Amino acid sequence: MTEKTVFSLQGRHILVTGASSGIGLNICRSIVTSGGKVTGVARRVDLLSEMVKELGEDNASFIEADLASDAGIEKVVAGIPEINGLVHAVGISKLSPLKFIKRQSLEEVMNVNYFSMVLLLAQITRHKKLQRNTNSSVVLISSVAQQIGTKSSLLYTGSKGAMSAASRVIANELSSQKIRVNTIEPGMVQTAMASEMEDVLSKEAIEKDKAQYPLGYGTPEDVANAAIFLLSDASKWMTGQSLTLDGGRYKLLD
Ligand SMILES: NC(=O)c1ccc[n+]([C@@H]2O[C@H](COP(=O)([O-])OP(=O)(O)OC[C@H]3O[C@@H](n4cnc5c(N)ncnc54)[C@H](OP(=O)(O)O)[C@@H]3O)[C@@H](O)[C@H]2O)c1
Repeated sequence: MTEKTVFSLQGRHILVTGASSGIGLNICRSIVTSGGKVTGVARRVDLLSEMVKELGEDNASFIEADLASDAGIEKVVAGIPEINGLVHAVGISKLSPLKFIKRQSLEEVMNVNYFSMVLLLAQITRHKKLQRNTNSSVVLISSVAQQIGTKSSLLYTGSKGAMSAASRVIANELSSQKIRVNTIEPGMVQTAMASEMEDVLSKEAIEKDKAQYPLGYGTPEDVANAAIFLLSDASKWMTGQSLTLDGGRYKLLD
């Protein structure tokens, strides 16, 4: 029998949003590999069904919900048992120079990236769905974008900045129940979201960006490994923190 390590999620049930692709999907896989159970949330039922098929019905389940709506958030909260953790990986990205930004796109990105996180956590805590005093853990997937000021990224950067700032308040409020809250702030990770950038930016611009990552672009598995650390007892003294994962992009400068 394999010995249980401090990174084990055995006996833990984790809710993962954005579970149908990319980072969220890989976090679901890593949770199950680490011995935990997972409930994934997203809108694409075909992909969520594949996730459950791959991980096994004893280990994984899903709830189809649009987290941009109150109804979707209520459906998720009503559908889950008491959980030991949440990974909020739902997110969209939109590029636009400041002068073209309108209320509609601002509301759309804030709604999916920021309001969903606040409103989901508000409901989860109000309905006591996150186990208290047992080292439950909340992991919010923010972005390194919120630490810098990339041109045309205001919609996305603003939403992630709001998420990272709010995470510290939430961490403080939930600390009395020994519920920990931390963010992961990744640089460029190869997922569908990154591919969308390839549709907008030139090949040269992407190659130039890639060359600035000493360890190259990240993979969804790299983010999933950090999420397991933050969900597990290995990080039980850590809350209100941001973990930057960017292959050295913004600290190791020539
Ligand atoms: N990729 C990167 O370079 C990178 C870097 C830093 C941070 N991040 C962050 O990492 C997170 C995951 O991104 P990713 O790269 O894995 O992108 P992705 O593959 O496009 O995944 C986004 C996920 O969000 C879900 N989603 C989007 N809108 C939703 C809605 N209204 N309701 C419910 N679910 C919704 C999608 O599922 P459905 O479409 O099925 O609903 C999908 O599962 C995001 O928060 C992103 O900002 C990504």
